[in-house]
Amino acid sequence: MLARRTTRVSTSPTMKVGVEADRLRRQGKDVVELGAGEPDFATPDHVKAAAIAAIDANFTKYTANAGITDLRAAIVAFYRRLYGIELTEAEVIVSAGGKQALYNPALAIIDAGDEVITHAPGWPTLREQIKLADATPVIVRAHADAGFALTAQPFIDAMSPRTRAVIVNSPCNPTGALMSEAEMALLADACAARGIWVLLDLCYEQLIYEPTPHNLPRVLFERMRDRTVIAGSASKTYAMTGWRCGWTVAAPSVIAACNAIQSHATSNVCSITQRATVAALGGPQACVGEMLGEYRARRDMIWALLTADPRIRCVKPSGAFYLFIDIGDLLSPDGIRTSTEFAERLLEEQYVALTGGEAFDAPGFLRISYATSVEQLQEGARRFHAFVASLDAAGSASAAASR
Ligand SMILES: Cc1ncc(COP(=O)(O)O)c(C=O)c1O
Repeated sequence: MLARRTTRVSTSPTMKVGVEADRLRRQGKDVVELGAGEPDFATPDHVKAAAIAAIDANFTKYTANAGITDLRAAIVAFYRRLYGIELTEAEVIVSAGGKQALYNPALAIIDAGDEVITHAPGWPTLREQIKLADATPVIVRAHADAGFALTAQPFIDAMSPRTRAVIVNSPCNPTGALMSEAEMALLADACAARGIWVLLDLCYEQLIYEPTPHNLPRVLFERMRDRTVIAGSASKTYAMTGWRCGWTVAAPSVIAACNAIQSHATSNVCSITQRATVAALGGPQACVGEMLGEYRARRDMIWALLTADPRIRCVKPSGAFYLFIDIGDLLSPDGIRTSTEFAERLLEEQYVALTGGEAFDAPGFLRISYATSVEQLQEGARRFHAFVASLDAAGSASAAASR
């Protein structure tokens, strides 16, 4: 009865974990939440103040569809500050989060029947948006033994005459891995030679822990500015997930197409959110460094706590706020068989919510969000090890019984 499109697309598996955790919480269970892909920090005070001032000034009406001039100017200034790139406002549109900032250009540049290459492990929305645009996702793999580093060659090997675009997410959700500037240069050269678009998801661009050259916009702009599309977001950097503000940077013709699509779908981003995001991007940036420092300390702590068991393997991630751990050694045909089953049992038995690797097209792994308090992380690790110990005990009991 429903459109065929609905049979191709699945709901966000990362959100499903949250729903189940909520159900248990409502039953009074003390759930440790390591599933959520969002900062636990409050939105910075100066950002909230800008929103309150917007309401008080009755800045509560429709705005220009592509975003208020002040915000587009703030995004232009942000690109100048972070990447040394000069944009015009015609190259920027403000959308409802990174999600819409990726979806509008996907609809604008991908045709039915095209192939679009993206990577696994990867954020499921990228794959689903390709399907919603009636195209075929072609998945290339990054490997755990190389820290999931994103390299150009697998993308190049996967290119065919039907390839319309490649989509890269760096830092990557769920692995925290990056694509280096050199690899992006190789990829961009290959794409430019073949007339293939590059869509770059930079929603975690300010969450990189060690000083690492990561000026991917410049690399792309120097090689193929007219076929580059970049998505950014206030959600993760400024702890603003609920405000729904992201942006797309691309050639004016792409932005004009995004503008047309958005004008018939959602229109402008909430006027109050836009004023808040002007304050986030243009105001004091100390909060960004403070949150990053806190995430770094949490990353180091949870990584050390979990990898104390040598069966839990994980390269310390370079960015974002997730550990993507290999639990292959804890799975077995006669015990827990999949990482999703592991995550379900861990939630049922120890009330720890995290996400099975299958959600990111990477069976055998678990994603742990460390965007939560040190206490929750310590408690989560304690319960995780208790769960593994219970599996070990059950394993030895059944081995003894079969002897
Ligand atoms: C890789 C990646 N890109 C983009 C987004 C979009 O976030 P938002 O729509 O909140 O800006 C997310 C959110 O989880 C993400 O993980």
